[in-house]
Amino acid sequence: MRKFTKIEPSYFSKDGCRLVWIGEDEDDTDTVILNKDELSRLVEILKNNNVGKVELEDNFSEILINSDVVQFRLKEREHLEAKTSEFRENILEYAKIPHEPLHVQIFPKEFYPSVWIQKEDTKTIKEPKKQITLLQAILSGSPKKTEETSSSDLFRIFSTRRSTRKFAKTKIEDWKIEKILAAADTAPTAGNFQGLEVFYVKSKKVKEALVEAANRQPFVNAPLVLVFCMNPNRVKMNFSPEMLSKFSLQDATIAAAYSQLAAHAVGLSSIWIGMIDEEKVKKILRTDLTPSSILCMGYPDAKKPPKSRRKLKDLIHVLEE
Ligand SMILES: Cc1cc2nc3c(=O)[nH]c(=O)nc-3n(C[C@H](O)[C@H](O)[C@H](O)COP(=O)(O)O)c2cc1C
Repeated sequence: MRKFTKIEPSYFSKDGCRLVWIGEDEDDTDTVILNKDELSRLVEILKNNNVGKVELEDNFSEILINSDVVQFRLKEREHLEAKTSEFRENILEYAKIPHEPLHVQIFPKEFYPSVWIQKEDTKTIKEPKKQITLLQAILSGSPKKTEETSSSDLFRIFSTRRSTRKFAKTKIEDWKIEKILAAADTAPTAGNFQGLEVFYVKSKKVKEALVEAANRQPFVNAPLVLVFCMNPNRVKMNFSPEMLSKFSLQDATIAAAYSQLAAHAVGLSSIWIGMIDEEKVKKILRTDLTPSSILCMGYPDAKKPPKSRRKLKDLIHVLEE
């Protein structure tokens, strides 16, 4: 059973917070993220020694404040609890002082968004009548019918993504940003050493400077900008520096790809920026780490269909023997 342990600033704003529970194993943590309004409603109830309910932004999860226990009924997640007296003391103490957002640094298992994407009704995928191997299906070059699959299906996300260079000004919801950041953390890395760092650029000034460092590509100044950097020093393996550098480049690249797909899955569009002056970007970010790519995201100005590709049979080279 996890125990409510602490309150921290959220990653995004000084006005919300992260409530942290820890299990017996220190690695076993769970987190609930509250936005500004949710936190102030909670503070209001606790300050007045009242009982009550705070509904969370997913329109499903709720916090029930009883006199003895505070219950967190969370959508598609294990429910959590905290002793009311202890929780009240912590929250009121936290609310007294202004907080700065935490620097975004993602640790495995620690990052649990408060809101989860609603699952769509999944219809069962019908088995093809005639069994064919995956390789045969790939080489046939004609995609199988996908109407039966849900729109949240991973392959649908892959196949409908399209780069965008014109973004609407619409604000991106925090929970979507969380998803995109958390997706980067799920990517595989060499030896699981996570040889990468992600810079989440909120500063308008820094975004403008990055435009300059990216061959003056104006769309780099996007609503959401992440810079993926290599950190070979994290990769503690007994290989040559060249190999470690290669690993960290791959780590950073895969993570960016995961974030790009996550962005599409939550209804955003993106553009991958590889045309960058590494030295300029390092200077702008005030880091020694070499950037591998910049991922620029936002709501698309107009939705476009995906671009075509060569036939799969031209892409895949089969070596039978
Ligand atoms: C390694 C890499 C570097 C890229 N660099 C840039 C870039 O600097 N500027 C840009 O506008 N697009 C860049 N792109 C985006 C590609 O042009 C785009 O992904 C490609 O045209 C395919 O379109 P799609 O993403 O809609 O499938 C890059 C993509 C990759 C994978």
